[in-house]
Amino acid sequence: MKILVVGAGGREHALVSRLGRNTLNDLYALPGNPGIARIAQCLPLTDSSPESILAAANSVNADLTVIGPEAPLVAGVADLFRAAGRLIVGPTAEAARLEGSKVFAKTFFRDRGIPTAQFIVAEEREEARRALDRFTYPVVIKADGLAAGKGVVIAQDRVHAEHAIDSLGPRLVIEEYLEGPEVSFIVLSDGTNVVPLMPSRDHKRVFDHDEGPNTGGMGAYCDHSLVTDAQAIQIMETIIQPVVDATQYTGFLYAGLILTASGPKVLEFNVRLGDPEAQAIL
Ligand code: AMP
Ligand code: GLY
Repeated sequence: MKILVVGAGGREHALVSRLGRNTLNDLYALPGNPGIARIAQCLPLTDSSPESILAAANSVNADLTVIGPEAPLVAGVADLFRAAGRLIVGPTAEAARLEGSKVFAKTFFRDRGIPTAQFIVAEEREEARRALDRFTYPVVIKADGLAAGKGVVIAQDRVHAEHAIDSLGPRLVIEEYLEGPEVSFIVLSDGTNVVPLMPSRDHKRVFDHDEGPNTGGMGAYCDHSLVTDAQAIQIMETIIQPVVDATQYTGFLYAGLILTASGPKVLEFNVRLGDPEAQAIL
């Protein structure tokens, strides 16, 4: 098969390496990186619009395209490929809103009874400050929109919370702090069938001894023992399957979870493989 992998990071390198274990595959990357260039043919990226990605897939007559990062999915690349009759791994733009907007995601969880932290959406700063009265500390403050894992502040007191509101605002999600181990639970779905990958965990904070601020992930590991069999079933039934059913979800779906004393709860969904979780899992 001719397979095109879109992206330029470690996650895409892991995807290309793994796909390359089948020596019958012909591998391409858009745009790839120097590591990927040793095992696949890298195509030049003019811009990352859905149209340019489709043009690249057409130029090599790709049988399958795998999208690494979320931005092209949020921009509708999967819809465009489907309309053009080309196979792609990734959700529609409608389903990709789960990652593109925290407000959309939280409302989606609430409407479908998917377990998540209690929350309030604030449209402007004054409303956000008032909403703080309804929470205990620590409290979690999140910017709406794509922030690559960096739009979140866990504030230990009111002073820090107000500072976060000023720097992240105006449109914010304010939510309850969940206590427990964090797990990345990633599945691959064709819209009906769902295959869970090995549970994983990324190291969030920069600097030794976890002394720095949160990042998109400084490293990762995966291990079956991160969740018990009973927890995995609960995650599939209460968190993953309702999302797949409601959106006919296709592609990789990444649930960021906290395993609380009252069961697994979802912090966020990503509509792609995690980076660096993919490197550990693949
Ligand atoms: P997010 O972008 O929503 O995944 O948040 C980034 C990181 O902040 C998460 O991976 C968690 O480590 C932490 N975090 C976010 N929301 C909460 C919460 N409600 N309770 C505890 N930790 C959280
Ligand atoms: N490592 C976290 C993420 O990919 O969003």
